[in-house]
Amino acid sequence: MKKGYVLITGGNKGIGLELAKIFAKNNYPLILVGTDILALYEARNVIKKNYKVPVNLIQRDLTKRNTPNEIYNIIKGKKIQVDILVNNAGFGTYGPFIETNLEKELDLIELNIRALTHLTKLFSKDMAKRFHGKILNISSTSAFQGGPYMAVYFASKAFILHFSDALHSEFKPYGLQVTALCPGPTDTNFTDCAKGSGQAKIFQSMLSPKRVAKAGYNALMKNKLFKVVGIKNNLLRQLNRILPRETAINIAHNCLLKQK
Ligand SMILES: NC(=O)c1ccc[n+]([C@@H]2O[C@H](COP(=O)([O-])OP(=O)(O)OC[C@H]3O[C@@H](n4cnc5c(N)ncnc54)[C@H](OP(=O)(O)O)[C@@H]3O)[C@@H](O)[C@H]2O)c1
Repeated sequence: MKKGYVLITGGNKGIGLELAKIFAKNNYPLILVGTDILALYEARNVIKKNYKVPVNLIQRDLTKRNTPNEIYNIIKGKKIQVDILVNNAGFGTYGPFIETNLEKELDLIELNIRALTHLTKLFSKDMAKRFHGKILNISSTSAFQGGPYMAVYFASKAFILHFSDALHSEFKPYGLQVTALCPGPTDTNFTDCAKGSGQAKIFQSMLSPKRVAKAGYNALMKNKLFKVVGIKNNLLRQLNRILPRETAINIAHNCLLKQK
């Protein structure tokens, strides 16, 4: 059977690009979204070199309010059917909340929360009509507790996890599957975005984006509710469940503090 398209936001770099390669390997045609046109072309070249699947590119900034509508209309205009939506694009900011840039943090909320919600609304309605579709939302281990110095980012990832939990259950009667992927620190450009955080303890040991993407793909195909990647991250998550909230946040504070 001919496979429907996979739409991956942030499919030109990091975890999104690795996911794109795995979907291509499994014969899924792709639509990749990002702001960096050169990285989009580069991603298409890399994928085309190895796999025989169509790769469509859409250069758009998802912090802009109308972008999800524009992406949806472009795809509709091409009469393309999206069977899998991967809400991966996201960034973080780092620093004491009273000093960090408000505009940047509001953009973070636009991208990590608003655009993800908007795209999910648009594409899930069509998927529900066909009684067929999957959504992979990239959350984070950040979702399990607050993150001092990355307060807005951690809270945005908690939104994604809870939103995904709810839809995983709510969408069952519509034949749709929703999975949240919760990576811990991963070796991508992300640590540059969360400026200054490179020296925090939390970023001293990182998984490869390839490993994270593989875990995400498998979890989606098995219709898992969520997936935490890596033994250490799973242990920390279990610890988080047992410890008092105050203790958990003190540990997170220590891990996120910049090392001298
Ligand atoms: N790396 C980690 O430690 C880690 C841990 C947990 C969760 N995550 C999550 O994993 C996801 C992917 O991040 P990554 O680690 O792979 O980082 P990355 O390499 O920086 O990739 C981020 C992707 O998001 C896209 N993007 C950023 N701003 C955008 C915008 N305004 N409009 C459209 N696309 C935009 C980027 O494309 P352009 O540059 O072309 O805009 C890029 O493809 C994010 O949601 C992140 O929060 C990362």
